[in-house]
Amino acid sequence: MSKLRVDLDAYPQLSEPGQAVLLRKELVWLIRGKRRLRAYSARCPHKPKEGRIVRDGSERGCYFRCPLHSWTFTRRGKPTGRSKKPMRRLPLVIKGGVARIELP
Ligand code: FES
Repeated sequence: MSKLRVDLDAYPQLSEPGQAVLLRKELVWLIRGKRRLRAYSARCPHKPKEGRIVRDGSERGCYFRCPLHSWTFTRRGKPTGRSKKPMRRLPLVIKGGVARIELP
């Protein structure tokens, strides 16, 4: 297990609820909820070695989807439609404007 450090000043859009940023190299989604920032793996819980979760929908009504078999997830990572598992949430701690995320 390793930790990822993310300087949140580099992502000012994350100060707005509903916004999301994909850290492509690490395959981590950072999603701003109403009150807090959450981190989720971008690997699809259906087939983590193959599926990659992307953002879909409009700015306000955005959701997350895996293009391989169309599993969909809410902004809180909950499964919708025919999805059977939630997005994997990653432990995240914020200190001094830096997010520390535990990678699987
Ligand atoms: S691998 Fe993502 S839905 Fe099947």
